[in-house]
Parts: sequence; structure tokens; C-alpha cells
Amino acid sequence: MNDRGYTLWFTGLSGAGKTTISQLVAQALKHQGHRVEILDGDVVRTNLTRGLGFSKADRDENIHRLGFVAHLLCRNGVYVLVAAISPYADARQKVRELIGENFIEIYVNSPLEVCEARDVKGLYKKARSGEIKHFTGIDDPYEPPLHPDLECRTDRETIDECVAKVLNLLALRSR
Ligand code: ADX
Repeated sequence: MNDRGYTLWFTGLSGAGKTTISQLVAQALKHQGHRVEILDGDVVRTNLTRGLGFSKADRDENIHRLGFVAHLLCRNGVYVLVAAISPYADARQKVRELIGENFIEIYVNSPLEVCEARDVKGLYKKARSGEIKHFTGIDDPYEPPLHPDLECRTDRETIDECVAKVLNLLALRSR
């Protein structure tokens, strides 16, 4: 019997829709009776990874800690939804190796122009003006997943479509 949970790892630029999709998927999974936890970069950086910045080393440490906690929860039957930019492919790959087959990488993909136009938190404006340095997509890299388990194009697909795609994939994997 597979009583393990899953780690749904949402990666993508700031403003691509990771938090929104993960929250709606979490809601649906709870309705299905699963135990669910969300580890969101913005939240986790105020506690578990407080004090870390945005250098490659700090981002990798952030992802390492998120991956470690996801692994602990996931192996105890929890569905873990991680929403973090996680810009470096090698850091994501290490988490995939740690968690194994129940790791599902979801690329929340929206072109930089679209994320920047949305500018939900006003951070792109600050990055363009130089008030924030090393902002992902502006003056810091984002390495897109080459083989994600799933891709959501949030500039072309509705949020509901994206959520449905994630739930469908999970249903297929859980068979
Ligand atoms: S990650 O790169 O380490 O995965 P994480 O997802 O935890 O990043 O945090 C990203 C959030 O931090 C963004 O949504 C944004 O609100 C905030 N932030 C502040 N500075 C930066 C920056 N330089 N680059 C990206 N995000 C930043």
C-alpha cells in the first residue's frame, strides 16, 4: 500500500501564480480527505529560513531546508505543497533525489513581461529602479525546469485550468 504523501513543488518567477495555485490545490486536496501542508517561500522566510537572503548560497539553503521538511512530512503521508521560486536547477534536482518518485515538479510559467506587468507586490518596480538588487528575472537568474512533471502557463490558462491539471496528474500518479 502506498501510504506516502506527495511533494508538489511549484517553481517559477515571482508573480507567476505559485501561491495562488498551491492554495487552491491544497483546498481541493483537503476536501478529498488528505492531510496537507503548504510551505510558501514568503511565509517560510519569516521562520524556518529567517535570515537567509537571495544569494545563490542562501537560496540553495532555503530550498534545502524546504526540501528536508517536505521529505519528513511527505514520508508520513502528508501532501506537501511547496511554493518557492527555487531558481536553481541543481537545488531542485537534489530535492527530487531526496524525495524520490513522489516528488512532482510543477513549472508555473508565465513570461517575465507578464509577471512584471502584474507586479502584485510592487517588487519588480523596485528591482527596475535598483532599490532591490538580485531580483529573480531582472538581475538574478531563473533556470527553467527542462523536464517538469507538469507545466502551467498562467498567461494562457486560467487558474482553474491549472488547478485541474495538477489534481488530474495527482490522481493519475496515485492509481
Ligand atoms: S527562493 O529563490 O529562495 O526560492 P523564495 O520563493 O523563498 O525565493 O522567496 C521569494 C520571495 O521573496 C518573492 O516572492 C518576493 O516576495 C521576495 N523577494 C525579496 N527579494 C527578492 C529577490 N531579490 N528575488 C526574488 N524574490 C525576492
